[in-house]
Amino acid sequence: MSTQPIEITNPAILSTASSTPASFLMCPPRLYDVNYVINPWMAGNVHASSRERAAEQWEHLYQAVSEVAEVQLIDPQPGSPDMVFTANAGLERSGIVAISSFFHPERQGEEPHFRQWFHNAGYLVIDTPRSTPFEGEGDALFSTDGTRLWVGYGPRTTPSSHQPLRKIWNIEVASLHLIDPRFYHLDTCFAPLEGGYAMYFPKAFDQASLEKIEDFYPAEKRIIVSEADAVCFACNAINVDRTIILNQVSRELSAQLESKGFHVVQVALSEFLKAGGAAKCLVMKLSPPPSTLSA
Ligand code: ARG
Repeated sequence: MSTQPIEITNPAILSTASSTPASFLMCPPRLYDVNYVINPWMAGNVHASSRERAAEQWEHLYQAVSEVAEVQLIDPQPGSPDMVFTANAGLERSGIVAISSFFHPERQGEEPHFRQWFHNAGYLVIDTPRSTPFEGEGDALFSTDGTRLWVGYGPRTTPSSHQPLRKIWNIEVASLHLIDPRFYHLDTCFAPLEGGYAMYFPKAFDQASLEKIEDFYPAEKRIIVSEADAVCFACNAINVDRTIILNQVSRELSAQLESKGFHVVQVALSEFLKAGGAAKCLVMKLSPPPSTLSA
């Protein structure tokens, strides 16, 4: 099921229509817990989350996402309490999925379960090397025009994992250096949004990375997030067309997003913040597998 080398040249595989309804993978939090500390948010929160409250919050998120997209589910697995954060399963586009190689051993046990799910669902599965950790959509986000893949590196994903991604999707890759340990995944501090917008917390990046963002997004398309909102995981937002689903944020930020034409849906996700994740971490974007595409 896993294939090397990873260069994909079959244009049929790459022809997924962008008009297909949005689809996401989620994992119910039946086995969710904070069992270990692999990011600053988890410190002091080991076994401090309520599974009951987490279940309620996740259900609200599931309902909100289901309003605007199809949701597929993967079963949680014993020993993998962070599996709810499906964004880290891998990165998928055009029916091809690059399965993550987690930096921390604590999450590596998730890899075979996600690999199996994608294989069973008919995706073309590609493994990424253990020697160059890559944490999937947590650290890799396509610009909404599809022309560029933004990839974060530093705390988790290594810069040397970026080159294979360029080859898999034949796409321009821009690497962004994450310098604040609180924002250890790109999706905690950066969100490409429909309409050519990007919402981000500038202090999470080094100067060269900020310049790359500013070169790509003109000033009027940049939505700068305050530190107070950033630590509420405001940038960890799910965006489907004009709907944005995120944790509770300030009135200023939601008004700013509304003024740009977005419909803002806030879902309280406090139990997941204790593990260092929020809305966007709890979903992984999917396109239909190649086996379901008509030739
Ligand atoms: N506890 C998880 C970790 O540290 C949280 C993952 C959050 N996911 C994300 N896409 N940012 O790996």
